[in-house]
Amino acid sequence: MASVLILNGPNLNLLGTRQPEVYGSTTLADIEAMCLAHGEAIDLKVSFAQSNHEGALVDAIHAARGAHDGIILNAGAYTHTSIALMDAIASVELPAIELHLSNVHAREDFRHVSYIAKACVGIICGFGAQGYVLAMDAMKAKVSG
Ligand code: DQA
Repeated sequence: MASVLILNGPNLNLLGTRQPEVYGSTTLADIEAMCLAHGEAIDLKVSFAQSNHEGALVDAIHAARGAHDGIILNAGAYTHTSIALMDAIASVELPAIELHLSNVHAREDFRHVSYIAKACVGIICGFGAQGYVLAMDAMKAKVSG
C-alpha cells in the first residue's frame, strides 16, 4: 500500500480556535481522524504530524525518504518564507503537494508568494479541512501512476 506523510507547520496545532472565520472550526485532531478514515477508504497509508519548528519540519521531510511515497505539506507561514523547506522537498525527490485551508491568493500579498510551490507537483488551497481529502486523492492518483 502506498504511504503518504501529511505534515503540518506552525500554528496549525491551534486549529479550531485560531481565527475560525479564516480557518474554520475543525481541529487538527479532527482533520487527522478524517485523513486516517479516508486513507482506509482509498488504500493509502497515512502518517500525520505537526511542528511549529522549521528545522523539525526539515527533519521530517528528510525522514520521509524511503519511508513514504509522497508528502502533503501545509507549511503554514513557512510556505511564504522558507528556502530550507523548499530545498528539503527538492532533496528527497518525493512528490509533494502544497496545501492550505484558506485561499492564500485571496488574502494579503505576502501570502501570494510560495517557496514551497517551486518543489511541489501541485497546490490545493481554499477548501478548508476538505482540502486534506482532496490532496490525498491527488496523491493517490500520483503515486499509483
Ligand atoms: C495556511 C495559510 C498560511 O498563509 C498561514 O500562514 C497559515 C495557514 C492555511 O492553511 O491556510 O498558517 O497555510
